[in-house]
Amino acid sequence: MTGELSPIDKAKFVAAKRSVDYVEDGMRVGLGTGSTAAWMVRCLGELVREDGLKIRGVPTSTRTAELAREVGIEVISLDEARWIDVTIDGADEFDGNLNLIKGGGGALLQEKIVATASDQMIVIADVGKEVEKLGAFPLPVEVIPFGWQTTKSLIEELLISMDVLGRDATLRMNGDSAFITDEGNYILDLHLGRIGNAHQLAMVLNQMPGVVENGLFIDICDVVILGYGDGRVETRDINEGTVEEDRLDFVETDNLFTDLQD
Ligand code: 5RP
Repeated sequence: MTGELSPIDKAKFVAAKRSVDYVEDGMRVGLGTGSTAAWMVRCLGELVREDGLKIRGVPTSTRTAELAREVGIEVISLDEARWIDVTIDGADEFDGNLNLIKGGGGALLQEKIVATASDQMIVIADVGKEVEKLGAFPLPVEVIPFGWQTTKSLIEELLISMDVLGRDATLRMNGDSAFITDEGNYILDLHLGRIGNAHQLAMVLNQMPGVVENGLFIDICDVVILGYGDGRVETRDINEGTVEEDRLDFVETDNLFTDLQD
């Protein structure tokens, strides 16, 4: 135990804890990336180690793969799995239609491929991730390094005809160097403020040469599990049209709370 968790971390934890109820024996499970997804991987690991849950995990980044192995989850590639039963991942923003912005952790490409290859995508989030309109969080766009400055200028020009408030794109950095994704690409963060038509933007961005993928996840997420700092959990299912509320006991002595890096 490394000390008292912040309300946001508690919210992330309870959302993660609830999400593993969707996982059953024999499933191939897409494992998301980020601090909320890391809680989920730890919860799944506990079920594997202590309850004998039999699953195979398909990680969406090298760091999630490392964590999954560390906590005892069998890791397989998407090519080995071919298809996934359920993917559980975090998000940077979600709206009322459960459309998302993802990629704050730089793993949006694998995350989108894995989520799209899943029967069900579940997003786990703290309450601060909910927005009326997507776009306050800078939209990550993965681009190939070749000619990235030209791609950046072309994206900024393209944004003039889009329904957005801002048009600046910045290269994501890691210290003094460009941040490099697991696929060896760069990330441009688009400071849009507000995205009027996320469907349209997602499509036109991907038509730009040099763009590999963008962080808009449109019509991919099925369920959002929203955690609150006091242990409340709200589960919204867009297909069923249901909203369920629940409360989880928060066990401070839980060994999940040690040495979480993400
Ligand atoms: C990584 C992601 C993450 O899911 C997203 O950034 C949310 O992260 P966190 O759970 O740490 O808030 O898209 O690419």
